[in-house]
Amino acid sequence: MDDRLHDREPPRVSLANLPTRGHWLRYGDKLGPRLWMKRDDHTGAEVMGNKIRKLEYLMAEAQAQEATHVITCGGEQSNHARATAFAAAQLGMASVLILRTDDPARPPAPTGNILLDRLVGAELVWISRSAWRDRTRLLAAEAERVRAAGGRPYVIPEGGSNALGSWGYIRAMRELAEDLRDIASPERPATVLYACGSGGTGAGLVMGAKLLGLAGRGIRVAGVNVCDDRAYFLEAIGKICAEAEARWQLGANVAPEDIDIVDGHVGLGYARSRPEELATIRDLCRSDGVVLDPVYTGKAFHGMLAELRRDPARFGATVAFLHTGGLFGLFASPETVAQVL
Ligand SMILES: Cc1ncc(COP(=O)(O)O)c(C=O)c1O
Repeated sequence: MDDRLHDREPPRVSLANLPTRGHWLRYGDKLGPRLWMKRDDHTGAEVMGNKIRKLEYLMAEAQAQEATHVITCGGEQSNHARATAFAAAQLGMASVLILRTDDPARPPAPTGNILLDRLVGAELVWISRSAWRDRTRLLAAEAERVRAAGGRPYVIPEGGSNALGSWGYIRAMRELAEDLRDIASPERPATVLYACGSGGTGAGLVMGAKLLGLAGRGIRVAGVNVCDDRAYFLEAIGKICAEAEARWQLGANVAPEDIDIVDGHVGLGYARSRPEELATIRDLCRSDGVVLDPVYTGKAFHGMLAELRRDPARFGATVAFLHTGGLFGLFASPETVAQVL
């Protein structure tokens, strides 16, 4: 890390296989830009994906507080919840996962991430979509319950997306700067493109890019939102950056114009796939032997293709697509995926 960042970097526990590798893709040779992929789906097996980079900092704080239980929340197939439960088990802590589902009285079958949550012994608390609005209070109530039983809880917000978690992607941006050293230049700019779900990955990447002065090296950052909309993420990412600034005085001074959110690709809604998105996942498997997930990376990759069809120059000479994992989500609805086979 750059010295200034190094001095301010909070304690981290090593949980991920880092640095992750990157490689060119054969896919889309007529799209305009060249496609390169950063394999954050290779950060681990049980803990695979982007969440573990954030958890390296969050779990270090949990350890420093001598937590016995880690409590977090997410959608029923939450990758973040699964990664948290495994990170907790690896460090000798218990986990409580508050998961959103259609009918909490009839929890979903143990498929995909849920199967892993159950295998690792996470305590699952099922809540309805309407109760989800109250998740901050529910997290606090679970923490109180753990405390009353003599435990020491550590609460992690949805997606691990807070100022501390965003350090995972400040650090990842340092890796990307190195990866793109011979690829991006002011004459041949590259865009690091990522799937945006709760904003923590985006906040870290945007802060990292600013702190390392990457715009001057032709490296930009853009997120394809897979839920909500551009306005929502400008605020969510801006808020995480402001919190990080207040806590560590980084000097990144992220402004709304630093945050590029590529809206219009949510499709049928969060975690709902259109056949054309699934066909894109299938095609990338067949051209490059790389598998994306339907909820995040598949949607973002499909959105990227739609943008490039409209404007081949939108992302510069190279798209550095960040594969943030999520593979277990593919096994949550095999019948849907099988429609494109
Ligand atoms: C596989 C995958 N990719 C991308 C994201 C989005 O990351 P973030 O929540 O930091 O915006 C998530 C989680 O939300 C995820 O599980």
